[in-house]
Amino acid sequence: MKPSRSWAPLLALCTWLLAAFACAMFAAAPAGAQGVVDAMRGPTPVANETKAPILYPTENKDIRRTRNYTMQPPTIPHKIDGYQLDKDFNRCMFCHARTRTEETQAIPVSITHYMDRDNNVLADVSPRRYFCTQCHVPQADAKPLVGNNFVDVETMLKRKPGAKSAGK
Ligand code: HEC
Ligand code: HEC
Repeated sequence: MKPSRSWAPLLALCTWLLAAFACAMFAAAPAGAQGVVDAMRGPTPVANETKAPILYPTENKDIRRTRNYTMQPPTIPHKIDGYQLDKDFNRCMFCHARTRTEETQAIPVSITHYMDRDNNVLADVSPRRYFCTQCHVPQADAKPLVGNNFVDVETMLKRKPGAKSAGK
């Protein structure tokens, strides 16, 4: 059925109102959803691309940082730019292998790096520990992108029994 001429203005108004309503909803969504969206994306709507954060310069201070827990892979206290790390050559092991550390004064990779998944100790670095930068990252004075309230176990041990665990 064709709408009669007299209905046309009302139809137009309805369409316009609907469009305006939809626009308002869209504009309000990011602000309203701020608490729910990924903290790293911020208020950027999902369909849009975010602006990439700046890269912090790598530190090269040769100062080893405290590990936050025993099994944390320590951060790398020196630059690694241009170090070859592929199937043909491992520049990291050139300094960090057990037999190289007298000359290089690097910290030898620990025994876990020579162990396969069944805890057999191999003669050379284990394939699962070969690509060092899978776990170790260079240091930078970067600000945390998301908040966290991690508490070191050392601090937990010093707490009085029954103390509240939430927060710092
Ligand atoms: C030229 C020798 C050399 C090369 C190559 C090298 N390192 Fe190092 N690395 C050192 C020395 C020396 C230290 C001791 C701290 C310092 O002087 O920076 C060290 C420290 C570290 C530490 C700190 C360990 C801890 O207990 O805090 C890590 C992790 C590390 N290196 C990883 C790597 C990785 C991964 C690579 C390859 C991408 C690499 N290194 C390549 C010499 C080297
Ligand atoms: C699968 C993750 C992983 C990979 C891959 C890996 N590491 Fe580690 N690394 C660790 C962890 C976890 C620790 C701390 C606990 C330990 O020693 O196992 C560590 C410790 C170290 C340490 C400190 C040793 C000490 O006794 O203080 C050095 C140096 C190191 N790694 C260098 C390397 C190098 C060089 C490579 C590449 C050949 C490498 N790592 C590959 C996880 C990894």
